[in-house]
Amino acid sequence: MKIYTVLWFLPVFLIPAEAADIENGDDLHFENCTGCHQEIVYTRDDRNVGSMERLDLQVRFCKDSLELSWFDEDVDDVVEFLNQNYYHF
Ligand code: HEC
Repeated sequence: MKIYTVLWFLPVFLIPAEAADIENGDDLHFENCTGCHQEIVYTRDDRNVGSMERLDLQVRFCKDSLELSWFDEDVDDVVEFLNQNYYHF
């Protein structure tokens, strides 16, 4: 389990230019995403999102319904922020 975690994070350190900006994701999430649901939706037992793909889709769905014009990088940053803090895929 531990070695998997290390391997998973390795590319982030090797290629900093392509690393998601977690802080940007945190800011965007705080400013735009806390109006309808609290963090509890990400951690409850029967949460809907069960994979990275689903998380990406769900973030896009929620930001589209808010009519936010985010770049793909912004979506990636928020996905990564949610994954590192709550989902841990
Ligand atoms: C207009 C209201 C609204 C806003 C604002 C909103 N969401 Fe959602 N979101 C929902 C609803 C409704 C659900 C489904 C909740 C449920 O299944 O009980 C949901 C669910 C989710 C889930 C899945 C939770 C799970 O069950 O695993 C994620 C992830 C998510 N939202 C991300 C975001 C992000 C990122 C933003 C900011 C861009 C955002 N949401 C803003 C309405 C909103």
